[in-house]
Amino acid sequence: MDDGVTRMDSIVSASHFREAARRRLPRFLFDYAEGGAFDEQTLDANVADLRAIQLRQRVLRDVAELDLGTHLFGRTHPLPVMLGPIGIGGMFRRRGETLAARAAHRRGLAFTLSTVSICSLREVRALAADGPLWFQLYVIRDRAFMRDLIEGARAAGAEALVFTVDMPTPGIRYRDVRSGMSGRYGPMRRVLQAMGRPGWAWDVGLHGRPHRLGNLEPVLGNASGLDDYIGWMAANFDPSIQWRDLGWIRELWDGPLIIKGILDVEDAREAAALGADGIVVSNHGGRQLDGVSSTARALPAIAEAVGDRLTVLADSGVRSGLDIVRMLALGARGVFLGRAWLYALAAGGEAGVARLLDLLEREMRVAMTLTGVSKVSAIDRSILTDLPDER
Ligand code: GLV
Repeated sequence: MDDGVTRMDSIVSASHFREAARRRLPRFLFDYAEGGAFDEQTLDANVADLRAIQLRQRVLRDVAELDLGTHLFGRTHPLPVMLGPIGIGGMFRRRGETLAARAAHRRGLAFTLSTVSICSLREVRALAADGPLWFQLYVIRDRAFMRDLIEGARAAGAEALVFTVDMPTPGIRYRDVRSGMSGRYGPMRRVLQAMGRPGWAWDVGLHGRPHRLGNLEPVLGNASGLDDYIGWMAANFDPSIQWRDLGWIRELWDGPLIIKGILDVEDAREAAALGADGIVVSNHGGRQLDGVSSTARALPAIAEAVGDRLTVLADSGVRSGLDIVRMLALGARGVFLGRAWLYALAAGGEAGVARLLDLLEREMRVAMTLTGVSKVSAIDRSILTDLPDER
């Protein structure tokens, strides 16, 4: 059995964390994280299109002092990076969301807790270090429950509400059926897979309980286990919602409101008209509708259209510090990490996430030095050789 600590001296990039996570996690969990919707074309395009963005090397431009600080939503973030919301993160490491939040907060970075997390807001607030906690909310049918969640977020001192709008229905993910995450023999297959991953089984399977969706316990009670996860999402998301229905949320939440899951200029304008403070240009990591544009292609036009009215953030496809710099150059003011932090958590717990953040910062510093920009706020298209075609 492994001792629960992945040796990290040989992990020097986010992709190494991915490999380590693959070795440690039962297949249903790795595939759940790794996979996307349908044939995963958009998932692949997110990574490929971002990587294809060419940086423009500049030299001898006095970049001795680099400033990576970014002022967003009333606070200075030491890096233009946030940990984005991930469902059931606490299945990847024992009480995983608290560990990731602690790693982020120790660096003064924001951690976004998902509605469908294992650890509840209260648990994360109690166990994470003091720091910017953001809360992600879905559009769910039970509006009274949404109201309660928003109240809970306020009570836990959440600084921003991240409202995910690209999941009126869960995407179709072939891998989840084939891996045992869902499907008829899922529970049995998951137990068998866990037996082949003793490190994970010990840490999370046995000692990481309860495996419940902490924030949903008030409505789901004992039924808030993993088996109910996808089912609950399918049954409770509300496809009837329209932009004009969001006004009440804006009224209820007077802090920063960030709409996540925008891929179209017209939708970005709707978000601005609603009075949102920010948007996340995102296709949900390629996990919702396959065949839509990669974030790298969608971002420039959206940033151009609304960047002066609200704060444009982005995610999907970010696998390195270079990718963060690329997203900023395409018009984002900050970048959400998804799979990258989840794999670091799975492989190394809190120390893994802390190391990932160090590695990303180092990569960002090199990219800034060699593109000749000394401040994050100065990163723009001028550090690129060209822009991707919009498609
Ligand atoms: C949930 O948001 C997921 O993408 O699985």
